[in-house]
Amino acid sequence: MNVLATGGAGYIGSHAVLRLLRDGHHVVVVDNLFRGHRAAIDAVAKAAGEGAKGRFGFVQGEISDSGLVRKVMRDNAVDTVMHFAALTYVGESVNQPLQYYRTNTAGALSLIESAEACGVQRFVFSSTAATYGEPPADKVPIQETLAPAPINPYGASKLMVERLLSDFNTAQKAAGKPFAYACLRYFNVAGCDRSGALGEHHEPETHLVPIILQCLLGLRPQAENTLSIFGDDYPTPDGTCVRDYVHVEDLVDAHVTVMNALKPGDGRIYNLGIGNGLSVKQIVQSVERVTGMKVKTKIGPRRAGDPATLYADPGKIAREIGWKAKITNVDEIVASAWAWFKANPKGYAK
Ligand code: UFG
Repeated sequence: MNVLATGGAGYIGSHAVLRLLRDGHHVVVVDNLFRGHRAAIDAVAKAAGEGAKGRFGFVQGEISDSGLVRKVMRDNAVDTVMHFAALTYVGESVNQPLQYYRTNTAGALSLIESAEACGVQRFVFSSTAATYGEPPADKVPIQETLAPAPINPYGASKLMVERLLSDFNTAQKAAGKPFAYACLRYFNVAGCDRSGALGEHHEPETHLVPIILQCLLGLRPQAENTLSIFGDDYPTPDGTCVRDYVHVEDLVDAHVTVMNALKPGDGRIYNLGIGNGLSVKQIVQSVERVTGMKVKTKIGPRRAGDPATLYADPGKIAREIGWKAKITNVDEIVASAWAWFKANPKGYAK
């Protein structure tokens, strides 16, 4: 297929692009490099090798620049959009909501309009478990039937796009035009390409696994590289928050499976997780097993907006299109991240 990957210079986007290239697809990336990395594009090209020459392009630009996006779509005969580009920090979204609605919601709207103008047939959207908000304890593991109730602008900005896609799809169907979409609600994506080609580099870094690894490498700005555990008085087995950590390679595998399964008229919503929850302390223990090093921790205050327990029921995607996470051992997830962080302590920075 001919895929436009927005945000292809980011963590998840770059992993998806490499996978698509390895599968023989044609991929063009549009990324404004605000938080993505040119070096990630270079790393994808290198890892994809000679065989991907002529099948991979990169354009620096905004998804809301419809002139540019439409030219890219037409020049590359794009039939599928994978829309990864977004702002993704919950805390930042609370302080700068308009930026989140502009980039995530208005940006997606513009992209979908371009997709319509250029006759794009498939749209795979990076949504988030943040659309669920804080589910009641008896609703976890979370099924897609749970009514979305985001508690921050990040989750709301993504949920609006889900609605937009649904309404657009209804209209396309009524008009007899071939279109299909999927909203993939990510849980906690972690790990790095196991060949070592690609990694995870966020600035600022807020995610648990990279923060712990940076602590071990002495790279955190905080005193003595100590992990602050955000609360140990939650109603969970060890008092720390429980999340569903899914390997980035499995996550991008779900994108490819979904893309291949989409038939005209489809509108699919799937959770992407492994279906098992691990606590912050269990992640720390995994890192200690994998690295053989002791992680210094302290118990800090709770972080606003953190639900106690959040993990997926990934049964729907398994039943409907046969996708299941293959990497279910958290040590394997952590080991893949550790390999990349050790080899690239500055991430993609020179
Ligand atoms: N945590 C710490 N200390 C840290 C960093 C994180 O204790 O220094 C804890 C958090 O409190 C949380 C867990 O580690 O309990 C995981 O935190 P992350 O920030 O790695 O991930 P979140 O679960 O907060 O966020 C993820 C995605 C978001 C998405 C959200 C949906 O990264 O994009 O799930 O709820 F919005």
